[in-house]
Amino acid sequence: MFSKKTINDFDIAGKRVLLRADYNVPLNDKGEVSSDYRITRSLPTIKALQDKGCKIIICSHLGRPKSSKDTEYSLKPVAKLLSKLLGQPVLFAADCIGDEVSETAKNLQAGEILLLENLRFYEEEETNDPEFAQKLVDVTHAEVFVQDGFGVVHRAHASTDAIARLLPSVAGLLLEKEVDIITDIMHNPKHPFMAIIGGAKIADKIDIIHAFIEKADIIAIGGAMANTFLKAQGVEVGESLVDSSELSVAQDVMDKARAESKKRDFVFYLPQDGVVSTDISSKTTTRIVDWDAKVIAEIESYPAKPSRASGVVASHEKILDIGPFSGAFIAGAIQLVDTVVWNGTMGVSETPALHGPIGPFAHGTELVIEALVGQYGHKPFSVIGGGDTTGYLEARGMTDMFSHVSTGGGASLELMSGKDLPGVSVLWDKD
Ligand code: 3PG
Ligand code: MG
Repeated sequence: MFSKKTINDFDIAGKRVLLRADYNVPLNDKGEVSSDYRITRSLPTIKALQDKGCKIIICSHLGRPKSSKDTEYSLKPVAKLLSKLLGQPVLFAADCIGDEVSETAKNLQAGEILLLENLRFYEEEETNDPEFAQKLVDVTHAEVFVQDGFGVVHRAHASTDAIARLLPSVAGLLLEKEVDIITDIMHNPKHPFMAIIGGAKIADKIDIIHAFIEKADIIAIGGAMANTFLKAQGVEVGESLVDSSELSVAQDVMDKARAESKKRDFVFYLPQDGVVSTDISSKTTTRIVDWDAKVIAEIESYPAKPSRASGVVASHEKILDIGPFSGAFIAGAIQLVDTVVWNGTMGVSETPALHGPIGPFAHGTELVIEALVGQYGHKPFSVIGGGDTTGYLEARGMTDMFSHVSTGGGASLELMSGKDLPGVSVLWDKD
């Protein structure tokens, strides 16, 4: 159970509220919001505050600007989209502090919304400067602070930490839902429980891999991260992306997993085949290499015997996706489990397709998706842990097909690893 006060546990009616959202959304070449997932997920809190007659001032960051001169990081396109989604004007202030904000905030009426410009135009935001936080309180005339930016609560910044020490501070509905679902799945999963972990770097995921070795019944690894494990095992990976500094970390993980498998039914699965190529372009030709059985690549030439080379990633090739055997293994395992946490795509899923929606290195990821949404008969409870994985599902228009798709990348990883989230800890406890 969520232990912090929310907007429903606090006498917030009619108050002027400073709402922290995570509107760190991708923008396209034309400067428009290219994915509105984080914005649509923030609407229930905004609407609940409107129902309570609050005056709402929203603040957020976008990207990692160096200074306010980096105008491509303006939140103005977000104001436009938010206004469209709510069907009412959203006022926009070209700064997050200063006289203009003060005037507009003071004159807000019940249900009206003012979005402030990017907080990170001031370096004081990231240095968690208490004076900057005080300025935000002063110019907004806020009586309550509401934290609903789940994606950013792993950062101790002025708008997530310092500010909450200056005002009564409670959680919004998105934050409550994210923390509840992710905490519950890590503490109380319905077994069998499977974790699918992909993405590029072991370093980013090492803590959750350790958490899952203790909690899950099966862990399947994909993405570029798998290359480092494979290399540590002596599989030839050619020019694949490998984190050389992490080889011993990978070995430690595999040792720990092996020890766990001796104690109980536990499987740590590394890909047995991959889609390889010399580059990641849409037009490249690909080959399937099966380093375990060494038979697929020349299957067309059956009954000829495959050459040894067909089962080995050549020195100039890269592994760019999991292969069909690995995909089938993972999809099959999904049929046997009740709960799945998935974080990280299985390959270079961002390479666009020449034709159709699925890129040349996204087939492994698509197999996982098909299995998770029940296309092979069984549909487990699925939690998607944010970041690139959520980005991929957004691009495919599939975020509604899973039990929970997190709006947080780093935040969901840290929460799953059992770490404290500073932007949550600082909020007021329930009575
Ligand atoms: C995110 O997208 O991960 C959050 O908005 C936090 O952004 P940051 O990683 O730049 O701090
Ligand atoms: Mg990030």
